Amino acid sequence: MRTIFWDYEKNEVNMIDQRLLPETFALVSNNSYLDVSHSISDMVIRGAPAIGVAAAFGLALAAKDSKARTRENLVQDLHAAGSVLKASRPTAVNLAWAVDRLLKTLSEFTGSIDDLRKYVLEQAQNLADDDVVINKRIAAFGADLIADGDTIIHHCNTGALAAVDWGTALGVIRTAWEQGKKINVLVDETRPRLQGARLTAWELQQYGIPYEIISDNMAGYFMRAGKVQKVFFGADRVTANGDVANKIGTYMLALAAWDNQVPAYSVVPTSTIDLTMAHGGLIPIEERSSDEVLNIQLAGERVTPIGARARNPAFDVTPARLISAIVTENGIAYPPFDLSLRKILQ
Ligand code: MRU
Repeated sequence: MRTIFWDYEKNEVNMIDQRLLPETFALVSNNSYLDVSHSISDMVIRGAPAIGVAAAFGLALAAKDSKARTRENLVQDLHAAGSVLKASRPTAVNLAWAVDRLLKTLSEFTGSIDDLRKYVLEQAQNLADDDVVINKRIAAFGADLIADGDTIIHHCNTGALAAVDWGTALGVIRTAWEQGKKINVLVDETRPRLQGARLTAWELQQYGIPYEIISDNMAGYFMRAGKVQKVFFGADRVTANGDVANKIGTYMLALAAWDNQVPAYSVVPTSTIDLTMAHGGLIPIEERSSDEVLNIQLAGERVTPIGARARNPAFDVTPARLISAIVTENGIAYPPFDLSLRKILQ
């Protein structure tokens, strides 16, 4: 089943509720673009490619609900909805990329207002379908980097749940496994929202791929002990120089990998590459509620003192010098990234 899909009978967007996994598998139906915006910010749906597709379907809902009587007014409404959707989460560039790409095509549309409504949905559906094809292409390139017998550290969740289907970094691991390579995955639990322990472990279990969950602070230990051959993660934005914004903790993981000569690979669709930004210092980093850090429980009890304060940046930036290669659907980019990324986007 896809992480997100349009219900053509009810004209609504369904999403797997990722807040509830692995205990409960449930779908959330979104009936308006505001529903979608809330689902993105509340992380019903998450992962850079998935939230881009969610925003595109959000525009289709905005088109359906708009009271506009002229094409021009409908386009205005869609731009307003696009601004709200883009503001739902700031770091993953796929969100703005999907909205801007869809809105740009509207200026070329010459049909009736009703046809325009249908057109927006068609565009969103195309984006969702393309996402699956792109992920499979990424996986075919990336699987060549994995050798039989590798132990791989994986950070956050980059699997089918983070995209429409298949996934990016986890999709590479899944393809390598299906090619018959014996792999063991050390799954970073990924504090504070535990996307690794909850979602990546859940996916790997279904695929039958051997894994063990580690707390994030164990990664250096295993690499120093020579137990890890590769590190794989996704990205929410890659800048022109190859800096990679990804889930908080990626930077520390990449530092430890560098110090232990373990290659660290970032796996992304080209829609995650933002050549308009020169370097990672310019990327807006989402700071989420401190409750996500403070509400952790041990044996059913809250562990932090009442009144404690916390910080919660959801992403960090790994400098390009710590990245061994960036895997995309157009091939693998190697340093120097300022040249190779431009080439791969041509
Ligand atoms: O906050 P999240 O769960 O949306 O963060 C997700 C990540 O950081 C992923 O690693 C990234 O989006 C790449 S997913 C293919």
